[in-house]
Amino acid sequence: MEKFFITTAIDYVNSIPHLGTAYEKIGADIIARFHRLKGEQVYFQMGNDEHSINVKNAAEKEGLSPQEYCDQMRPKFEDVWKKLNISYDQFIQTSNPKHHQAVQKFFDLINKNGDIYEGDYEGLYCESCEAFYTEKDLTDGLCPNHKTKPSTIKEKNYFFKLSKYEKPLLEYISKNPNFILPEMRKNEIINVIKGGLKDVSVSRSGFDWGIKLPTNQKHVVYVWFDALINYITWIGFADDAEKFSKMWPASLHVVGKDITRFHCVIWPAMLLSAGLQLPETVFGHGFVYLKGEKMSKSLGNVVTPLDVVNQYGADALRYYLMRTASFGDDSNFTWDDFINRYNSDLANGLGNLVSRTSGMITRYFAGKLPIITLSEKDLSLTKRHSEVFLQVEKLLNPKKSGDILFHRSLESIWVWISEIDRYIDNEAPWTLAKQNNQKRLNEVLITISQCLFYLCPLLQAFIPETVEKIRSLYGFENDWNDMKEINVTKGAALFPRIEAPKT
Ligand code: MSP
Repeated sequence: MEKFFITTAIDYVNSIPHLGTAYEKIGADIIARFHRLKGEQVYFQMGNDEHSINVKNAAEKEGLSPQEYCDQMRPKFEDVWKKLNISYDQFIQTSNPKHHQAVQKFFDLINKNGDIYEGDYEGLYCESCEAFYTEKDLTDGLCPNHKTKPSTIKEKNYFFKLSKYEKPLLEYISKNPNFILPEMRKNEIINVIKGGLKDVSVSRSGFDWGIKLPTNQKHVVYVWFDALINYITWIGFADDAEKFSKMWPASLHVVGKDITRFHCVIWPAMLLSAGLQLPETVFGHGFVYLKGEKMSKSLGNVVTPLDVVNQYGADALRYYLMRTASFGDDSNFTWDDFINRYNSDLANGLGNLVSRTSGMITRYFAGKLPIITLSEKDLSLTKRHSEVFLQVEKLLNPKKSGDILFHRSLESIWVWISEIDRYIDNEAPWTLAKQNNQKRLNEVLITISQCLFYLCPLLQAFIPETVEKIRSLYGFENDWNDMKEINVTKGAALFPRIEAPKT
C-alpha cells in the first residue's frame, strides 16, 4: 500500500485558531482525505508549537506554569479542529518528552557532523514571529508581519552553519522541481539563497521554557529549530528506527507563505546536515485576509472558524475557503461573499439538486425507486464522474499539476452538477409523470440518482458531513451494483438558504 505522510505547520498556542490557521488545516485535510479515498496508507500529523516566549508570558498572566497553560490550550485547539472535521491521525505537543528526546538526538547528530559552533549574537528579534531580523527586513523599523518593534538582543548563542548549505540547497532545488511549490514560492526561495545565507542562531539563553541544549544546559534550543524537528519525532526518529525508515521522508508539508524560509531553507539544510532525506514537497499556501488586512492574533482582527461553523456548518466554511481562490494565492474573507457563494453553489446548486431529486422520488415512487438498466445516452451523463475524478486527482496532486488547485477541482465538480441540472430540466420528469410515462420517469430518476451516487466520492474529501447526509438520505450502499432500489428517507435541507445578509 502506498504511504502518504502529510503535515501542517504546528500552531503557536497563545490564542485559539482563526480563519487563517483553519484555512491551512482544511486544505491539508482535503488532501489527506483524498489520498485515503484512493486507498493509500495516510498519516496526517498536526499539533501545537509550545516553546515560545509568548506562551511563557501568557502562562504567567494566567498564573499557570507554561506546561499547564499548554495542556489546557490543547483541547481548545482540538475542539475547533474536530468541529471542522479535520481528520488528523496524530496531534502533537512539542513539550512532550518524546519530542525533547528527538530534538536532543538531532542536535547531537549535527553537532558531531561539525555544523554547530558557539558565538555572540547581537541583533533584532520579533517575539511574535520568534524570528531574528536585520534592519533591512523591517518596514519602518517594525516587524513586517506584526507591525511591532522588535527587541534588541545580545547573547552568547550556538550557531548552525547554514551558510555551508547554500550550494547544496540550490542544487537540490534545481534537481527536484516538486520540492518547493507553487512556482512563485520556489523563485522567492531561490532568490533568498542566491542573496547569501548567514549562519543562524539555534539556541537562546536567559530563560528555561524550552528544550535544554544537550551540550550546555544553560541554553534552550531556539523554538524554530525545535519546532521543525516535530515532523520526525512522532514517526520514530529517536525511538523506532524501523518505523522511521518506512515513514520518512514526508510526502507533503503544508505551510503558510510567511514561513517558507524556515521550511525550504533552514529545515532542508538541517536535514542535509543530519544526513536525512528531504521532504518530497513543501507547499507554501497563501494568506486569508479579512477585507484586505492580514488576520493575526497580534493584530486583533480575527474571525473565528466557529463564528461561521456554528451558524452554517463546517462544510459551508470548508467549501467557501477552498472555492474562493487558488490555495497558493491570497484570498479575502467577507461575509457578503460567503453568503453569495453559499446561496448560489450550496443552497441552489448542490442542495437543490439533492432535495428536488429526493422530492420527485418520494412524490412519484413513494420513496422507493427500482434500479433499472440505463441506455448509453443516459449513462453518458453518469459516466462523467470518472472524467471529473481524473481532473480532480491531477489538480490536487502537486507532482502532476505543479500546484494544489482546490478551487479548480470544485469548479469541475460544479460544472458536472450544472450538467445534471440541465438534464433534469430537459427531461422534465414532472411532464413524464403527467403523461404517466412511468418507464422513462424511472430511467430519468435513476440516471440522476446514479450521478448523485458518484458525486459522493468526488465531494467526500471537501464536504464530508454533507456526503454522509446524501448517502443516508438515498440509502446508498458502497457499491452501486449491490443495490436493488433507491430508498429515500426524509431529511432536512442540506444548505438552507441564507436570507438576511450578515452585518
Ligand atoms: N509555529 C509556527 C509554525 C512552526 S511549523 C514547524 C507558526 N505558527 S502560527 O500559529 O503563527 O501559524 C500556523 C500556520 O498558520 C502557519 O503555516 C501560518 O502561515 C498559517 N497562517 C497564519 N495566519 C494565516 C492567515 N491569515 N492565512 C493563512 N494562513 C495563515 O508559524
